[in-house]
This record gives sequence, structure tokens and C-alpha cells, in this order.
Amino acid sequence: MKQFYQLRVLKTEYVTPTVKKFTLTSEEINLPSFGAGAHITVKLPMGTRQYSLTNDPYQQENEYTIAVKNIGSENSASTFLHEHIEEGDTLEVSGPDNYFPVRSEGKHHVFFAAGIGITPFLSMMAYLIQIDQSFELHYAGASKEDCAFYKEIKNQYPEQTTFYFMEREQKVQILREVLSNQTVGTHFYICGPAGFMDQFISYCNEIGYPDECVHSERFRPANTTINRKPFSVTIGKKTIQVGSNQSLLQAINEKGILVPYACQMGICGTCEVAVCNGEILHNDTFLTDEERKVKMLSCVSRGIGHITIKI
Ligand code: FES
Repeated sequence: MKQFYQLRVLKTEYVTPTVKKFTLTSEEINLPSFGAGAHITVKLPMGTRQYSLTNDPYQQENEYTIAVKNIGSENSASTFLHEHIEEGDTLEVSGPDNYFPVRSEGKHHVFFAAGIGITPFLSMMAYLIQIDQSFELHYAGASKEDCAFYKEIKNQYPEQTTFYFMEREQKVQILREVLSNQTVGTHFYICGPAGFMDQFISYCNEIGYPDECVHSERFRPANTTINRKPFSVTIGKKTIQVGSNQSLLQAINEKGILVPYACQMGICGTCEVAVCNGEILHNDTFLTDEERKVKMLSCVSRGIGHITIKI
């Protein structure tokens, strides 16, 4: 189970008209250190949400910073944070966790960000500067004014950064060229709206970059509402029923077969189990197509009819 603790909102500021930055701190505890690409989970009235830490992991100073774009939809977490959370308020937080680290085996790192997808790359770039590793950032936005952290990035990483404020089609064409001109050993990191990420991941596949060199992060729960039909699962000598209102992870943990877990959103891979038999409805955003032939993530993916798995 995740441990939550209280953090005080030290400061809020708008970094664009729709992106609000929150600086969180504690007078009671030393905040855990974090790695580049890490996020915290924030408990809100509408559920828990993940936000990337945007501060430098080497200069944490007992503060965490996050940046939240207001999607302007009633009852959304982002609108709640924009409209109801101000300096002096407290937030319940867990983590940091990191499912999107900089890969140490990478010889060069290429970041593709669109909109608020810039946030995990801020800590990654600070880290890579510290360890003197090469990287480049390709950051697409509607305009300078709408581009979160535009000035900071332009000042701190002028050599490494290219901004893209032109028409969408032109943007995609140039970015695709950038993508196809990379050398062996480069790792690619993609973060932004789902359509942008899907498009770039499919370009990487078309070009033939290995799956293990292409990384992305999506902070939205996987689509687990589809096909919530009951199914049965055999593990060793036990057969367990998984009801329509529970996940495979819950069902087997309730029967005393313990599988570790973390995000429960299909994004971290902690709850992976081996599939021996049966048809799987994969709902995660973590496994590769190749891995899906023999594995499933038990927090979000479901069997159809009857399946056999191995822990
Ligand atoms: S717990 Fe993270 S993918 Fe299942």
C-alpha cells in the first residue's frame, strides 16, 4: 500500500496562462531524494493523480515542484488544483516513484515533448548536465506564450533545444526527420498528448529502433472499463474466479497469492505475471508487443474465459 504524507504548498505561480506551478515542502520531514524522471502521487477528492517532479534532483532543498495544466473540465483534478489549492494549503502525497528513468546504457538521449509533456524532461536534463552526457530536446507547442518553462529552457539548454511553434503538419514532418537521423545507442523519450505519443512511437517502430530504446510516459489510467467480464485463472494447483468488479491482482492477492504492485495503472510493470495459457486482453501501456505474447500486467489486464498464469 502507498504511504501518504502531508506537504505544505509553499508557493504557486502561473508559468503560462493555463499551467500552474506548485512548490511543496515540509517542516516535519526530510523529503526523500528522487531520480531524474520521477513523479509524485497526489491524493485529491476525485482520486489520485501523478505529476512529474520538475526540480533538479541534485538541488532538491527539501522542496518538490510540479506543474499542472488546467484542462478546464469540471471535476477534473487539474481544475481542482488550479481553482482550490493555494499557498499555505496542504496536499497528501506519496512517492516519489520513477517509471521513466534516464537509461544509463544510452549513449545519447533524445527527448520529444509536446505541451505539458515537458515536465519529466526538466529533471532529466538537469541530471544529464550534471553527469556530462549528451542529449537534445525537441519541444513542440502552440506558441512561446503557451510553452511552459520556455525562458528557463532557452537560457539553460540553448545548444540542446529546438522549439517547434509552426503548423502541426510541418512540425510532425521536421520531427520525423530528426527522429530518423539518429545513431545506434541513442535512447528516445516521448511525453505529451496520447496522439502525439502514439504517432512518435509508431515512427520509431517504422524506422526500426529497438523497443528497449524507446520510452514514454502516460499519466492516465489504462482503459480498464472495457470487457470487465468475469474470468477464471489457474495458478499452480489453484483455480480462482476473478469477478467483473475486481482486477486479477486483487483476486489473487485476496486468495493469499501475493504479487507485488505499485502504480495499479498498467504503467510501471511491477505486477507482471507470466502467461502459460489462454487469451489476454492487455490494457497496460508498459509491455512491448513481444512481451505481451508471454506476460501480462495483473493490475489492469484481464483474461478471456479461462487462463493459466505463473508468478
Ligand atoms: S502495478 Fe504498475 S503496472 Fe501493475
